Amino acid sequence: MSALWTGEELARAVSGRFGGPAPERVSGISIDTRTLQPGDLFVALVSETGDGHAHVAAALERGAAAALVDGSAHLPAALRDDPRLLHVADTFRALHALGAAGRARFAGRTVAVTGSVGKTTTKEMLRTALSALGPTHAASASHNNHWGVPLTLARLPRDAAFCVCEIGMNHPGEIAPLATLVRPDVAIVTTVAATHIGHMGSLDAIAREKGAIFRGLTAGGTAIIPDDAPHAELLAASAEAAGARLIRFGTGESAEARLDELRLAADGSAAEFQIGPDRLALHLAAPGRHMAMNALACLAAISALGGDLVGAAEALSHFAPGDGRGALRPVLGGSVQLLDESYNASGASVRAALGVLALLPAQRRIAVLGDMLELGSFARAEHEALSEAVRESADIVYCSGEMMKFLFDSLPQQTRGAHAATARDLAPALLAELRVGDVVLVKGSYGSRMRDVVAALTQPGTQLAGAHG
Ligand SMILES: Nc1ncnc2c1ncn2[C@@H]1O[C@H](COP(=O)(O)OP(=O)(O)O)[C@@H](O)[C@H]1O
Ligand SMILES: [Mg+2]
Repeated sequence: MSALWTGEELARAVSGRFGGPAPERVSGISIDTRTLQPGDLFVALVSETGDGHAHVAAALERGAAAALVDGSAHLPAALRDDPRLLHVADTFRALHALGAAGRARFAGRTVAVTGSVGKTTTKEMLRTALSALGPTHAASASHNNHWGVPLTLARLPRDAAFCVCEIGMNHPGEIAPLATLVRPDVAIVTTVAATHIGHMGSLDAIAREKGAIFRGLTAGGTAIIPDDAPHAELLAASAEAAGARLIRFGTGESAEARLDELRLAADGSAAEFQIGPDRLALHLAAPGRHMAMNALACLAAISALGGDLVGAAEALSHFAPGDGRGALRPVLGGSVQLLDESYNASGASVRAALGVLALLPAQRRIAVLGDMLELGSFARAEHEALSEAVRESADIVYCSGEMMKFLFDSLPQQTRGAHAATARDLAPALLAELRVGDVVLVKGSYGSRMRDVVAALTQPGTQLAGAHG
């Protein structure tokens, strides 16, 4: 296998200097010694949460081929002259430069994904579908920010055919520079919704910020936008300003990539798509309308790349949602089904998940909801606005957090399970109530720690309380 980077290429890309002879090759890039593989380049990043230079010794012990460090750092004296150190002025800038070099040498096609919800899911769908067409590199985990995107590009194998990057944002102005780094041939906006609206102020501002992704498109690149989203016209205007070819995906006549028919079921959806001149049937194992829309965006991107749609759809039919993003699994000895949506939450994604809950066969449907964060002054209204959707889909509701209390209090008495300050405090009340045949949706923002509820439900040895049996 060819090296990811030779030592000489590395030094040139980051304008750095090795302490000794440049290594022949590095096989991967790591920023965390816990996941470092022998042969990796370890990049010592400095952030609010810690200084990677404190882990350089451990990285080298674990077999790192080299470590990228900056002069300002406090390295232990014993390490300072290590030949494996690659010295630069600033490790963060160096990672950025390495990402840019990874992109510059790449001869394959690049797809970038942004949007208020569905980025990681769509990125994973693209990974699945594109892998059927050629070697595909995609960001691991969410990796969508100012270090995740360069890291993804720095890890891009030189002989890949496709690269998929996720681009996220919390604040205005974050998307354009990342899109410029990625230089996608195709850029997708999955959705426009009120996530991070606390920082962004309005849906209008969110749509404008998402549209900034098109500024990074290569000449002749394609913009894929959600036709049914609020402010779709703003996205279209951004695409036009960037000189992009436009593909709208949606359900209306104006959509060039259209969902024509959708049969929703607990074990997945049967969808009929019209993508340009192509008619396409897809059986998607991931249930829910939102999953079909993500799949449509993904296939529209593949059509823009001129890829084989039938082969891509075949691969996509095996796609399964990830842990915390809609994965369904039996817990408590198989007596209860868990719909694990614990990774994050916003109004749009809670509604989507409730839609899936409603599809699943169950004795009782239980929703366990934690606070949706980063909504600023919109928080209370966004939580209360879920009331109707919750009542339509769930028989019993458990809530944790200050904001979910507003939702909880808006529900009829018979629908209220329990409310607690934290997810961890909520788990015992939920466990005590569960019975055979229940389906439990667990959802909340990452910071609400709903994974603590998932952990309580999946802990080995945990049994149904029995009395209800
Ligand atoms: N297109 C969509 N519309 C609405 N909700 C969605 C969509 N795609 C995924 N979701 C929901 O959003 C949650 C987060 O999905 P994910 O793909 O991780 O989004 P992101 O990477 O944008 O944060 C999922 O658990 C699911 O509930
Ligand atoms: Mg994500």
